[in-house]
Amino acid sequence: MKEADPHRFYHDRFLKKAQRNSGKPRLMHGKVGWSSPSNIALVKYWGKCGDQIACNPSLSFSLDLSRTKTEIEYEYSSNDSGPSIDFFFEKDSKPDFEQRISKYLNRILPYFPFLKNFHLRISSENTFPHSSGIASSASSMSALALCICSMEQQIVGSVSSQSDFKKKASFMARLGSGSASRSVWDNFAVWGRTEVVFRSSDEIAVPLPFKVSPVFSNLKDSVLIVDDGPKIISSSSGHALMNDHPFAETRYQVARSNLNSMVRCLENGSYDEFVELVESEALMLHGLIVSSEGGYILIKPETLEIIEKIRWIRTNKGIPVCFTLDAGANVHLLYPEKHSRKVRKIVETELTDYCKNGQWIDDGMGSGPREITNR
Ligand code: DP6
Repeated sequence: MKEADPHRFYHDRFLKKAQRNSGKPRLMHGKVGWSSPSNIALVKYWGKCGDQIACNPSLSFSLDLSRTKTEIEYEYSSNDSGPSIDFFFEKDSKPDFEQRISKYLNRILPYFPFLKNFHLRISSENTFPHSSGIASSASSMSALALCICSMEQQIVGSVSSQSDFKKKASFMARLGSGSASRSVWDNFAVWGRTEVVFRSSDEIAVPLPFKVSPVFSNLKDSVLIVDDGPKIISSSSGHALMNDHPFAETRYQVARSNLNSMVRCLENGSYDEFVELVESEALMLHGLIVSSEGGYILIKPETLEIIEKIRWIRTNKGIPVCFTLDAGANVHLLYPEKHSRKVRKIVETELTDYCKNGQWIDDGMGSGPREITNR
């Protein structure tokens, strides 16, 4: 018997469902809305092998305050050349975003054929400063995917369990931005097939299927904003740098092994190993970026100053802080919530000097997306 393609299981399932549901719409107009968080990866996704499929599994936790709120008002149109859209970001039209969303909607159209008969008025806003350097594709694409899945429920009348709804949203979010697949869940999520996480998949992210040690149950993330300018390289071009990277294969092996170790840590509560893994993943990401063709350096002198301070504080003040980085200069300072008061003081007195205009966001692990409109 032919083995099922692990990259097409959900694809086939959602496509079949779309074919079954391509009848007359139950609703001609309505409104949906979701607030969805950004997330921070502890084991990083860096490199694509195929159509929005990561070359290694990644693990992250969803943030609490750094979110995108998206609402869609939809209206039936007898013209079936849609979906047509008007897009507003923080109340202004944004032609470049509108084009990206239009392209995305056309990409997911085979799964949601009803869309071709609808006009969508999409309004979006971020709860974090627009130019804070925080990755907004995870929050924005997950919010949009959740909205489209809610539209499907209203228009087609399909009912699914909360978990099936989230799986579908994760699949659709991934097609918009890989890291967005993880943002549909609260707390920790894993995207990418790995033998250590039951039912993990390359097509969707899944929540951790076990009880995480209380050591990690309420991690804080103080985001220290070193650079609030536009990115030097887009994440898609960044991932493409891995295609001919001399260390690519080794990286994917190390990432797999780090993910296995991270899952073990989260289960058994070994904080010291967690710190080692998290920092090594962050530095390896930048090591890969620096050693890519083009030799991009995305960190700034202030990033290094902060890293040194964090390590000094850990060693000399006994506060279990550690850092991670995205593909940029900002530093995510991670620590257990019970140290919040002390860390806040340290950030304010010793670290904001390195931040652009003293900016930082006092964020932490969050409870996932919230539905804000459904009528
Ligand atoms: C360094 O998800 O932004 O943040 O799939 O091209 O949209 P696209 O890339 P994206 O890449 C995120 C890269 C990262 C690591 C991570 O979040 O795992």
